[in-house]
Amino acid sequence: MPILDWMTREADVRAAAGVPYRLLEGVPALDGGDAAAGNMLIQGDNLDALKALLPYYKGAVKCIYIDPPYNTRSAFDHYDDNLEHSQWLAMIYPRLVLLRDLLAENGSIWVSIDDNEGHYLKVVMDEVFGRRNFITNVIWHKMFSVKNSAQYFSEDHDYITVYAKNADAWRPNELARSEKQDSMYKNPDNDPRGPWTSGDFSARNFYGAGTYPVTTPSGRVIPGPPPGMYWRFSATKLEELKADNRIWWGKDGNGVPRLKRFLSEVKGGRVPQTIWQHADVGHTQEAKKEVVALNSEDVFGTPKPERLMQRVLHIASNPGDLVLDSFLGSGTTAAVAHKMGRRWIGIEMGDHAETHCKPRLDKVIAGEQGGISEAVGWTGGGGYRFYRLGAPVFDADGHITDGIRFTTLAAHVWFSETGAPFTGAADTPILGVHDGMAYCLLYNGILGDRSVSGGNVLTAALLAKLRADSGWVGPMTIYGEWCKLGAARLAEAGVTFKQTPYDVRAR
Ligand SMILES: C[S@@+](CC[C@H](N)C(=O)[O-])C[C@H]1O[C@@H](n2cnc3c(N)ncnc32)[C@H](O)[C@@H]1O
Repeated sequence: MPILDWMTREADVRAAAGVPYRLLEGVPALDGGDAAAGNMLIQGDNLDALKALLPYYKGAVKCIYIDPPYNTRSAFDHYDDNLEHSQWLAMIYPRLVLLRDLLAENGSIWVSIDDNEGHYLKVVMDEVFGRRNFITNVIWHKMFSVKNSAQYFSEDHDYITVYAKNADAWRPNELARSEKQDSMYKNPDNDPRGPWTSGDFSARNFYGAGTYPVTTPSGRVIPGPPPGMYWRFSATKLEELKADNRIWWGKDGNGVPRLKRFLSEVKGGRVPQTIWQHADVGHTQEAKKEVVALNSEDVFGTPKPERLMQRVLHIASNPGDLVLDSFLGSGTTAAVAHKMGRRWIGIEMGDHAETHCKPRLDKVIAGEQGGISEAVGWTGGGGYRFYRLGAPVFDADGHITDGIRFTTLAAHVWFSETGAPFTGAADTPILGVHDGMAYCLLYNGILGDRSVSGGNVLTAALLAKLRADSGWVGPMTIYGEWCKLGAARLAEAGVTFKQTPYDVRAR
């Protein structure tokens, strides 16, 4: 497969693996509403924040939407084309790698972009997500009016590049049918099944049984289907359809047969299309108005309209699903996800995490009525926890940093052993069982003073307790500070002992 090359590619491709795991430290004073609702607003560089989320949320996110900086010339005082493009690719590549790992098997990622980097992004995403998982490039008609000051063309659209984690497992939710679409269905013969429209009874596909003559209700004989075409159904099936009043012969009963299709029988919605008009999903001015209404003194520069995010989240997630935006900006994705009953994680490194996202989400929780609120019947509720990035979990030599709590190390041990996110309560040394192996962690006095060294040393008594408490008789991997059992005794007991901190993989 062709791949894109740039100045720092080699290092950038490996960058995600080298990012240290850091702690996410709660800032309770900045929590909003019901902090236990499960939503997270994180202030910090998303490279670190995404890595910090991995041990807990790997494979758990249903929909990722990101709106990274587009890398327009205006962003730089001294624009060096080659350098700036490389920097942008260096920025996006490792983040996409981490986002891929966070995405659920039936999840999708949506990236807003324009022509500055859009085509480079496509090639990089082909590499990271697999070309076969490319779904589409949505074109968002974002401008309400023409920009006559444009040097060449007035740019009317952005793209939203969409990939599934696994295109075989992902399906879009359909959109609601529009009134205009429904109005095409009429009921000229007062059929008790309600309004209908008619479709061709003939098609180009070869059908051996589809070439018979047909007699119309008024007695005219049609010798066969139109030249080069075949009736869609056999003569026997046509008789059944006639008996069920599913054939339309035209007002005078003398036309070629057509098949009636009832509105009540068409499937629920309409398949999403690739061009999104601003009349349906909002435009840049609408987005501006929304953020001005929320904060008129310090207006965020590049927001997306709530209706655009509503469309994305409608297609790509269901109530209760986890949605992630790691370039949160003014907080649009989180606000819309919240109003639509999705769980969300938003990451923003700028000060506006606190000055814009937080106030916006607090207003949403209080029942703010802008954006999509009326359309979804939003009346308020819910909440989130505010986090900042803390110290690395492991130091440069891979040693566990002082002060790391049991819950943190438990998640890292579990994740590094199983590759799965840790969802346990971390209130016992028994972390869980994965693929026929139980994992235990003796650390930081999790067992209090009931055992040697506050419970960090594996003894025969402690092993018996772990067996009894877990009820698990199969193989066990136990992390601890020290082990008092010999190799033969461990082998006999089906236990692999790993020593903290040395055997805990830091990457
Ligand atoms: C185009 S804005 C997103 C706008 C957003 N969609 C909205 O509706 O408000 C991009 C945001 O990404 C943030 N950002 C850029 N690099 C980042 C990084 N490495 N980590 C976290 N946030 C970052 C910027 O501070 C900016 O707020």
